[in-house]
This record gives sequence, structure tokens and C-alpha cells, in this order.
Amino acid sequence: MTSTVVVGGFFGDEGKGKIISYLAIKDNPKIIVRGGAGPNAGHTIRDDDKIYKVRMLPSGFLNKNAKVMIGPGVVINPDILLKEIRDFDASGRSFIDKHCGIIEATHLTRDSKGELKEKIGSTGSGTGPANADRAMRVLKLAKDFDSLSSLIVDVPEQINSALSNNEKILVEGTQGTFLSLWHGTYPFVTSKDVTASGICADIGLGPKKVDEVIVVFKSYVTRVGTGPLRKELSPEEAERKGWSEFGTVTGRQRRTADFDFDLAKRAIMLNSATQIAITKLDVIFPDCAGMTSYDDLPEEGKSFIKNIEQKLSTPVTIIGTGPNINDVIDRRI
Ligand code: IMP
Ligand code: MG
Repeated sequence: MTSTVVVGGFFGDEGKGKIISYLAIKDNPKIIVRGGAGPNAGHTIRDDDKIYKVRMLPSGFLNKNAKVMIGPGVVINPDILLKEIRDFDASGRSFIDKHCGIIEATHLTRDSKGELKEKIGSTGSGTGPANADRAMRVLKLAKDFDSLSSLIVDVPEQINSALSNNEKILVEGTQGTFLSLWHGTYPFVTSKDVTASGICADIGLGPKKVDEVIVVFKSYVTRVGTGPLRKELSPEEAERKGWSEFGTVTGRQRRTADFDFDLAKRAIMLNSATQIAITKLDVIFPDCAGMTSYDDLPEEGKSFIKNIEQKLSTPVTIIGTGPNINDVIDRRI
């Protein structure tokens, strides 16, 4: 059995999409399955000159031999999902669970005004109101919609039997540890727990069936929306450092700060990380751009990585050195 769970260690947008699509191709799992909140997530994947922005489909869809699935804990916007399946040529290999929650027009309306929009800075995707309705037991589920029936499989059964047959599965988290409803900077958080345990619960993977947990950190911290961000840089300083980024879903400018070891330590604990992936090393050290071998890294790049390993007592096994899927140093082998 080999199951690998990938989650974000800061506030989302750590570059999970790129890491997951790399692992999806490199490790060739049988199933790539997504947990997490809903279409509030946005992952950007670059495959040479093609750029994909996904909100519903698991980021591993570029591996055409794998099945991609969405677990019952996730809420789905059917319009976005069906469009992504079409646009990204993923029909016949994309599946959802009958218990996935469904976002309807009312949820979008409720998410686009009032407290959620103004105070929390929600993405307006309807995810929070849909999860609130699920807690009230009034949300409709995928099984209530004929238009989705051809996508439905028993996701927990599929992933657990793949593992029993010694096949690999890759579990994709969304958002990041400090956006967790339980462990994050409440109330400036998303509407679910998004740590590794929560992601596993979303897909029906029990705690004894997890082999590896990879926590993804960007080389610096970003946060989109409101809520605390320690040692936040001014937008001008972020611009100067080349850290200025814009959200995949909302297009808002992301707030930035230096790599935060206190947060990272807590993320390692909360997720029981066995490995760390560091992304965007090339953004802080341009000399590292596109490198695929650790030995080739300049000394400053190596010492940045060594310092993280030492302070967090966890190996850094994957290092992102550029936006392309293959701009990766893979130290697992
Ligand atoms: P909501 O999940 O849309 O209600 O948004 C709640 C907070 O979480 C807001 O600050 C959002 O910007 C943030 N958020 C939700 N999903 C993501 C994500 O995938 N990446 C980064 N921030 C997110
Ligand atoms: Mg994102």
C-alpha cells in the first residue's frame, strides 16, 4: 500500500498544484483524489507553454492514465467541474462521490455580500454557505442531480480497494493549514478543516492507511484576503523582492511575508508531516531557476534548505525551482 497525502503548510497558494501534477506524472498513481473545501481553491499548473487554472478538478489530471476523483467531503460547483472536465480533456476518467455537496445559486449569492465577503474576504465561490447548509442538513448532494449521475462512483471504496491491491494513490489537499476552520486564524479561515486529517476524512481514508504526508511550503509566505499575517511586507517591498502575486480565483493581490518558522513548525505537527516540499526557491534565489539536481544548487540555496530541515526536523524531499511541472529537484530517490 502506498498513499501520499499532500497539503499546504501556510495559507494556501503554496504551489500544491504544481507539486501534485509533478507527483501525478512521476509516481503514476492509480487514483488522484481530492479532499478540501470546494471551488474556493485555485491551482495553477504550467506544462511548457500551456497554463491550466483548476478550481474543481484534481491537479493531477495531466496524467491521463490515472483516474481523478473528488471525495464526499468536498462541495462542488457542477458548472465549473463540467467545464474543467471538458476543457482539460478529462472525461471518462473524472469521478465524484454521491455524497459530494452541491453549490447552487443561493450559495453564490450569500457568499458575495455581507460579513463573509467584507470581514473574512471570502472568495465568493459559495463554498462557505454550502458547507453551512450541509451542517444544517439541507444541502443537496451529487446523488440528487441527474446531470451528475455518470460521474458518480463510491470514492472511499475505490481508493481503499486500490490500496488493498497494492496500487498507489495520491491525495490532494486544498487551501492551507492556517486556513483550517479548527487550527487556523479563526474567524479568518475557510469553512472546513484542511489539515491532513481533515483531507483524509473528506475522502474516506482512515488514519492507519496513510503512508506519507508531504507538507508544501512556499519559500516565503503569502495570504490572500483578510486576517493576521506576521511581519507582513508592504506591497512595494513585495514588488521589489519579486514576491508580488495575484490570486488564481479572485485575482486579488496576495499579501506577503518572510518564511515563518513558527507557523511551519506548527504545520509539521498538525499534519504529522513525513516530508516537506519547498516551492519557488528560484523566486528567492534566481540562480536556482530550472535546476533539477540538488548538488547543482548554489550554496545559498542549499543552506536555505538545510536550515529548514534542521529547524523543522523533517526532510525536504521536493524542491520547486520554476513554474514548469519538471522544474523540480526530487530527493526521494
Ligand atoms: P472562503 O473559503 O471562500 O470562505 O474564504 C475564506 C478565506 O480563506 C479568505 O481569506 C480566502 O481568501 C481564503 N481562501 C479560501 N480558499 C483559498 C485558497 O485555496 N487559497 C488561498 N486562500 C484561500
Ligand atoms: Mg491557490
